[in-house]
Amino acid sequence: MSETIAKIPRHIAIIMDGNGRWAEARGLARTEGHAKGADSVRATVRACRSAGVQYLTLYAFSVANWQRPAAEVKALMHLLAHFAEREKYELRERGIRLSVVGDVSELPTSARRAIESAMEYTAGCNDMVLSLALSYGGRNDIVSAARALAIKVRAGLLLPEEIDEQRLQAEMSTHKLPSVDLLIRTGGESRVSDFLLYESAYAELLFLPIMWPEFGEEQVAQALAYFANRERRFGLTSGQVQNSNGRSFDPLDNTHAPVQLQSLSQ
Ligand code: IPE
Ligand code: IPE
Ligand code: MG
Repeated sequence: MSETIAKIPRHIAIIMDGNGRWAEARGLARTEGHAKGADSVRATVRACRSAGVQYLTLYAFSVANWQRPAAEVKALMHLLAHFAEREKYELRERGIRLSVVGDVSELPTSARRAIESAMEYTAGCNDMVLSLALSYGGRNDIVSAARALAIKVRAGLLLPEEIDEQRLQAEMSTHKLPSVDLLIRTGGESRVSDFLLYESAYAELLFLPIMWPEFGEEQVAQALAYFANRERRFGLTSGQVQNSNGRSFDPLDNTHAPVQLQSLSQ
């Protein structure tokens, strides 16, 4: 039993792709696909919470998505605000704290306010963290972190040789999240499109041919089964991993590593 629990990914990240194509294939406007995608978000959040996933991070809007037609961007922002207003009650009921990664200051005021209000409303929840990646870019986040460290060095608060992974990570918008364990992308493309580049260093990747509006509870169960069957080695040999007695470990995760790397070689 405890073996099964240990195999649940602590942090799942999802690239919710394929809304537009789902709609177009049905003769609908792309925005209808985005609206339908909100149902998949709800089902996915519920299923992850029931399974005991602690962190779920959803790629909702990338930095590059600002270049889409203005009407589509507007519709997406509207949906986002609506989602936050409507879902905050259920989130709190289920003990889910809403958070954001990326640059929320870039969002239109109405969307930003709705998100901030939902974050405040769920601030006391501790059973799962649902992070929405909004105006998010992985490269952007790394560059901002590098800049923040450079400013500290210039101010004499930090020596260049003191810069390490932990300090870099601390400056990123994802600083409160552990490394990604399972990264899922729907929509049939096998690419990461600037999502959690740093945080997914040793994530298991799952690319699905279905479109995001077709994703739900059953697909979460399948993804969890896929993850449970992976052997994560983090650069070690299979023998070393098996000698760790099935304990969950992530030598790269400075903030949450439950087992020291040293103990793996004993
Ligand atoms: C993902 O679906 C949602 C966002 C990027 C906001 P798309 O809108 O990219 O759908 P496709 O890939 O065009 O089908
Ligand atoms: C990634 O999907 C961004 C989100 C799901 C929010 P895109 O549709 O923007 O990615 P590309 O353009 O196919 O790489
Ligand atoms: Mg797409």
